[in-house]
Amino acid sequence: MSKENMKTVEVYQKKAGVYLATTIEHDRLDPSKAKKKRERLQELIKRSFSSLPHNAKVFEIGSGDGANAKYIESLGFKVTASDTADAFLEAIQKQGLNTIKFNVLEDDFKEKYNGIFCWRVFVHFTRDDANEIIQKVYDNLEDNGIFIFNAINRETKSIDNEWVDFSNEYHMGADRYYNYFCKEELDNIIAQTKFKIQDFHEEGGEKNNKWLVYVLKK
Ligand SMILES: C[S@@+](CC[C@H](N)C(=O)[O-])C[C@H]1O[C@@H](n2cnc3c(N)ncnc32)[C@H](O)[C@@H]1O
Repeated sequence: MSKENMKTVEVYQKKAGVYLATTIEHDRLDPSKAKKKRERLQELIKRSFSSLPHNAKVFEIGSGDGANAKYIESLGFKVTASDTADAFLEAIQKQGLNTIKFNVLEDDFKEKYNGIFCWRVFVHFTRDDANEIIQKVYDNLEDNGIFIFNAINRETKSIDNEWVDFSNEYHMGADRYYNYFCKEELDNIIAQTKFKIQDFHEEGGEKNNKWLVYVLKK
């Protein structure tokens, strides 16, 4: 586990309550944009997991408020939501989701899954972390299992990584580590596993972060 991720996990442990409050605030600032973003993600999840059997087991890494896990469950899958921060785990549990405390760089998966989902979490991983996690996810998926994840594209950034606390509605009161990935770099990491890239696209605009979105199949 990198020092960078370890320190960021500590920040979430202390500040997850602030994060939960500001996320709600952010969605209120532009409800129609938030709705479009949510719908786009839900379409991606539905389409990408459509090959999985009904009642398939899906694991989410770094669930945050648990909203995406709740949506995945509504599709008929048996979901395990997880995070490292206790305040997130409480928020997820309140929604009636099966929840475990899980650090993807420290803990072992207890069983194999048909689907694994990891949204907006690779932002906090070094290249070595990413390498380790993608192989670990591969090893813990059933055959034909699907892994959906995204990472911020390095392309429009002038730096590879930074420690940042935002002054806007994403303010948390402490710096988190953000790492930006080139597509080629992630493609190379994926090529070291036996994953096939089932789907890939980029999203986000000029002023916003650009995201690399991968759907991998075992
Ligand atoms: C930007 S938030 C995204 C939360 C949620 N996935 C979403 O899209 O709303 C990043 C999340 O990654 C989690 N995280 C960071 N490092 C982690 C690690 N090593 N293992 C598991 N979760 C981690 C944090 O606790 C936090 O919930």
